[in-house]
Amino acid sequence: MNRLYNALQLKRLYQLKQFGVEYVPMIEKRQPDHLSLPNDLKTLQQIVSQCQLCDLSKTRTKTVFGEGNPHARLMFVGEGPGAQEDTSGRPFVGRAGDLLTKMIENAIEIPRSETYITNIVKCRPPSNRVPTPEEALTCLPYLMKQIELIKPAIIVALGATAYHYLTGDKTGITKVRGEVIEMAGYKLVPTYHPSYLLRNPSAKKEVYQDLLKIKRLLCEN
Ligand code: URA
Repeated sequence: MNRLYNALQLKRLYQLKQFGVEYVPMIEKRQPDHLSLPNDLKTLQQIVSQCQLCDLSKTRTKTVFGEGNPHARLMFVGEGPGAQEDTSGRPFVGRAGDLLTKMIENAIEIPRSETYITNIVKCRPPSNRVPTPEEALTCLPYLMKQIELIKPAIIVALGATAYHYLTGDKTGITKVRGEVIEMAGYKLVPTYHPSYLLRNPSAKKEVYQDLLKIKRLLCEN
């Protein structure tokens, strides 16, 4: 995919040169077009593993594509990989990941492996900062394709970043948490991010109610 893109850009530069253009200040960065992304998760994962569309690719150790049941009815979307995810290539394996596993297995009462877990960005933002809009929007077509292929009935947005980029809505997570939002083809339930719960354990009560709601929705859908 990258080679094709580079070849097309080169062709464009040669054409411009023939017209006498000596200097092109900037070639626009290509956004992955989700319509031209492959229709199978394995090939998509390979493409993501070679992605260099944003600067996060320069500092990552491994891409973190996502993992779980490719036919999951329940999907979790976090913000982006942390240090342990960056070295292992797996989502939610650190402390926040342990808490997420407990949330799934103790409250929703299904094995973590039955769900699908991924993030808004597939590469670790340095120092675990929030991904920039450019980074998030560049990576978003990969997530859109994952959703299209997995077809979950319910997606849980873990925290404000996931909610914001899945909906385009900038309302704070405190206001929308626990709501059930009808999206095209699935229900979206925003809740607090497990990292937030590690810092604010008193919010676990509210998240527990959200998880019970998700469990009910799974039975109904
Ligand atoms: N936080 C996230 O948002 N995603 C991970 O994969 C790990 C921590």
